[in-house]
Amino acid sequence: MAVRNRVEIMHGVNLDQLGRRDPAHYGTLSFEALERHIDEVAHGLGLTLRFFHTNHEGEFVEHLHRLRDLADGLVLNPGAWTHYSYAIRDALELTGLPAVEVHLSDIAAREEWRRHSVIRPLCLTHVAGQGADGYRVALERLKAELGV
Ligand code: DQA
Repeated sequence: MAVRNRVEIMHGVNLDQLGRRDPAHYGTLSFEALERHIDEVAHGLGLTLRFFHTNHEGEFVEHLHRLRDLADGLVLNPGAWTHYSYAIRDALELTGLPAVEVHLSDIAAREEWRRHSVIRPLCLTHVAGQGADGYRVALERLKAELGV
């Protein structure tokens, strides 16, 4: 049987603007630097990554539709869609894949509307407020789940 080590990293709306967003919440790392950091961590864990980013909700949904045979698990930070997109929630459910939700900022300590996540019940766990290091925590959890 093939090794189950393929992880999809999915970023949603406005994440590509990292480096320009409020450093008090998001730090100073650019989006490119964040992806490089995640890639290095994954390499050390023996995971194979693919990255996907879009600012368009329908594209995010369609990417989830395609994922079933392309990935063994996923780490997703859908940005603001996290808090209200039932379309993304339903598409995530369709993948049937183990998933971990990540947020750079501590969404529980910010505005009321950020405290709710519509995808959380579908995820193995969620990591928030740990900045870029949160992705390491997420990948370790996923690796344990995949047994690789
Ligand atoms: C975010 C938190 C969301 O509330 C926000 O809309 C984002 C980024 C985070 O990584 O902290 O765009 O997902």
